[in-house]
Amino acid sequence: MRINLDDCISFAKESEFDNIVIKARQANELLKSRKGKGSDFLGWMDLPDKITDEEIQNITVTAKKIQMQSDVLVVIGIGGSYLGARAAIEALTDTLNKKGTEVIYVGNNISGKYVESVLEYLKDKDYSLNVISKSGTTTEPAIAFRIFREALYEKYQNEAKNRIYVTTDKKTGSLRKISDKENYISFEIPSDVGGRYSVLTPCGLLPIAVAGIDIKQMVDGARYSLNNCEEMCIQYASARNLMYSLNKTIEIMVNYDPSLHYLTEWWKQLYGESEGKENKGIFPAGVDNTTDLHSMGQYIQEGIRNIFETVVYLKDDMSSICIPDTNDNSDGLDYIKNKQLQYVNKMAMKGTKLAHVNGNVPVIFIEIEKMDAFTYGQIVYFFEKACGISGYILDVNPFDQPGVEAYKKSMFKLLGKPGY
Ligand code: PA5
Repeated sequence: MRINLDDCISFAKESEFDNIVIKARQANELLKSRKGKGSDFLGWMDLPDKITDEEIQNITVTAKKIQMQSDVLVVIGIGGSYLGARAAIEALTDTLNKKGTEVIYVGNNISGKYVESVLEYLKDKDYSLNVISKSGTTTEPAIAFRIFREALYEKYQNEAKNRIYVTTDKKTGSLRKISDKENYISFEIPSDVGGRYSVLTPCGLLPIAVAGIDIKQMVDGARYSLNNCEEMCIQYASARNLMYSLNKTIEIMVNYDPSLHYLTEWWKQLYGESEGKENKGIFPAGVDNTTDLHSMGQYIQEGIRNIFETVVYLKDDMSSICIPDTNDNSDGLDYIKNKQLQYVNKMAMKGTKLAHVNGNVPVIFIEIEKMDAFTYGQIVYFFEKACGISGYILDVNPFDQPGVEAYKKSMFKLLGKPGY
């Protein structure tokens, strides 16, 4: 994994970037001193070094049990209790030909149509539930747990109990109470790790392991980042804050592979929820190219010039498929005949980057050599650490989310929840 800032910092004076790098170094020191805003929630910082082989083994053994008993694992969770696992699973497993236990997600919306469709899908399948909620009180997963637990008990009666896996806080919240009362198998999310920084806790690791991914490798990758990628985090945090100082207030994460769609979704939550407060913060957006070049490409090229991009490019997608030679050039594609698809994709990326930079859209370029569990762990920790630094440059608390309460209050009032 490497970062190239040439097409970004060239939009400013060298001294402007140097000044922000100084601020980023100070922000990094503040983070490390554990004396900055939100310092009660810095458990994620040394998490990769602290996870023991025993904990990994425990999660792996439970994952194997789930794989044995289930065709499908239904993961119930939202926000940080959902996106981290999904992003890793999508990036590291075959998009269509899933092997082993399938992982599906509920409790991340309140759509009756979606829930009915999942219940129907599960009718003739063996399944287990992993309900994940740090607070143990979030409405969307609580509703889903009620519905899917009932369906599970209806299908398996007494055996249902052995198919419910709870991931929540050690002590607090309704979910912990239910779990203790019913004696469900449970995992703890450390109290000093916030939801969006919790991929490397059982919150992310259990479903990721069930999907057949080597979580030891993933943790090793994160540990590598922790110990080796500090400078890269400082550079990324500096570059995006340089852009912010130039009124480039929208950062679009760009990928050229559909398997990275949920990495962007995870990153959007991480950065949006960490920085968007006190009327400040870069708005994180995302596009999947080349798909979105045919929908969002026009705006990016010629719309309001308040955008910069962070391209996450997978250098080797491990495919070898080529454009066939048909002896008949009726589709006019002979100029790329026998070329690998990943070569054509690369030229699309390069051409787009050039056009966007020329169109006044600065580009931060992050290149991933190839995707595997180790690399994915590296990516996770890199973005988490850079986010902490970036939030401190902005002088906000990157580890709280007070604004999320507003929608809940007005929704609860409409629903007649006692006390609202
Ligand atoms: O980052 C966060 O803390 C939030 O996005 C939470 O992950 C999200 O609101 C879900 O909360 P919980 O895990 O308590 O159900």
